[in-house]
Amino acid sequence: VLAIETSCDETSAAVLVGRTVRANIVSSQVDLHAQWGGVVPEAAARAHVEAILPVIELALRTSEIPLEGITAIVVTNRPGLVGALSVGVTAAKTLAAVRGLPLVGVHHLEGHMMSPWAWVDDHAVDPVYPHLGLIVSGGHTELVLVSAPGRYELVGETLDDAAGEAFDKSARVLGLGYPGGVAIARIAENGNPQRYALPRALPKDPNHFSFSGLKTAVLRLVEKEGAGICVPDAAASAQAAITDVLVQKALASADYHNVRQLAVVGGVAANTRLRTELQREGARRGIAVVVPPPALCTDNAAMIGLAGSFRLATGSRDGLGLETLPNAPLPPNP
Ligand code: KG4
Ligand code: ZN
Repeated sequence: VLAIETSCDETSAAVLVGRTVRANIVSSQVDLHAQWGGVVPEAAARAHVEAILPVIELALRTSEIPLEGITAIVVTNRPGLVGALSVGVTAAKTLAAVRGLPLVGVHHLEGHMMSPWAWVDDHAVDPVYPHLGLIVSGGHTELVLVSAPGRYELVGETLDDAAGEAFDKSARVLGLGYPGGVAIARIAENGNPQRYALPRALPKDPNHFSFSGLKTAVLRLVEKEGAGICVPDAAASAQAAITDVLVQKALASADYHNVRQLAVVGGVAANTRLRTELQREGARRGIAVVVPPPALCTDNAAMIGLAGSFRLATGSRDGLGLETLPNAPLPPNP
């Protein structure tokens, strides 16, 4: 399967044989968008146009499978920036039409949800049903109960900001670079997470998160400390506040729904502190915490290939009329 992902600011193509990832090429636009401090949709679409063909060619070459050996094309068609999505979808339709191959549109979050099950290098983990998925990315903080392959029930979400937004906004207030998650994680390595007291909003319902108060608290801290602020300590304290809430809430929700496996996916799942704390706390409470390798946490086409292969196996086929959608609910049960 040849998979294509262009929903936001990474142009990516992957080649999979079953669950084995033979190639997963990602061309990131972060350097381009850094000058504006966030993703500019029009610039993203243009950068996808430039990168899409070289990225697909490199994926095929790396996989050592020629285009003639590809049996299906899968592509992210929802949700995302419509101009960005259109570039990948147009490439996918063209390849499907020229080669006479089946085409399947994939929901971006179903891709993230399937990312832990990819076989890549020495990483091979099987899902247990039911399991709980924690999606933590720039736009999403969601808890999804997966009762069977492809059967999703949204059981929780953030009441305000997403976890990635909390990282990005805190980074901006602290004068760190974009994207904020990586900048905070890097500088926090030399910081003391106990130096500054920041709030951990824990709504009573185990399924809900809230992060908007943190940004305000970091802003107050910067105003109060002025030039005397220790940025590594502030970054470490903000990172601890965000990850502590995610760890406590996700494991409480797993207990609440009586599941023993928690899959953590999305860009924020690349965070080292979140990964180690979840695994330590999970082990203590008898919950197996699965986190994909960091390259499969941030946006990539390998995860889209897995979700697409699954949809193909359940008989899903889209024609050349496949649409791009800015918003879309999780896919219906197969
Ligand atoms: O999944 P993703 O690549 O794109 C979306 O679909 O949103 O997630 C991007 C988010 C950004 O908010 C970024 O700051 C955050 O993931 N992120 C991190 C790390 N790497 C990326 N947050 C914390 N620690 C990291 N190492
Ligand atoms: Zn994503």
